[in-house]
Amino acid sequence: MSTALAAGPLRVVVLVSGSGTNLQALLDAQSNADPADPSGYAVVAVGADRPGTGGEERAIARGIPTFTVRLGDFPSREEWDRALLENVSAHTPHLVVLAGFMKLIGPDLLRAHPTVNSHPALLPSFPGAHGVRDALAHGVKVTGCTIFWVDEGVDTGAIIDQRAVRVEDGDTEETLHERIKVEERVMFVETVRGLAADRTSWLT
Ligand code: GRF
Repeated sequence: MSTALAAGPLRVVVLVSGSGTNLQALLDAQSNADPADPSGYAVVAVGADRPGTGGEERAIARGIPTFTVRLGDFPSREEWDRALLENVSAHTPHLVVLAGFMKLIGPDLLRAHPTVNSHPALLPSFPGAHGVRDALAHGVKVTGCTIFWVDEGVDTGAIIDQRAVRVEDGDTEETLHERIKVEERVMFVETVRGLAADRTSWLT
């Protein structure tokens, strides 16, 4: 790894599709950080797969560059993948963070940029788009969230960290997801700080 890569805050591009509360947690923790802290990171851009997301608005409010790459604007999935890669790469990130980004990432982006994602269930249980609903329907008493390295599968990559959340009597998908997201936001910040501090072990 070059010294240039090792020095300074870890450059992070965050991709979002929704309200962006996990992004907000990353932005808030970043602004409280000591610039000399080895676990420092900087969100250098926020990308979305649809216009007008809460996540995009949160980035704009902080003066962080944003981009939107809509699948429907491209003739094929491969061209969308390529456009997403170009937009992400333009910000030369060390790490890409999927914070509620609801699209699979193409292999070229994964090869170019180490990427982490979070899932609102304890993987390998309940992968896919409805992790909270599926856990609730199964009747589990404990669920939670998982942050992991993205690979070409769906929620199959190496697990970095997990947090447990108890299912309460009367929980709905919404109430349970909100409690999971409280833990998820803390997990996101601690994980990105940990990856920044430990960058020599994964950044090539
Ligand atoms: C998170 O629970 C994430 O795991 C899931 O979608 C949610 C995004 O929430 N894929 P937000 O947009 O960060 O508020």
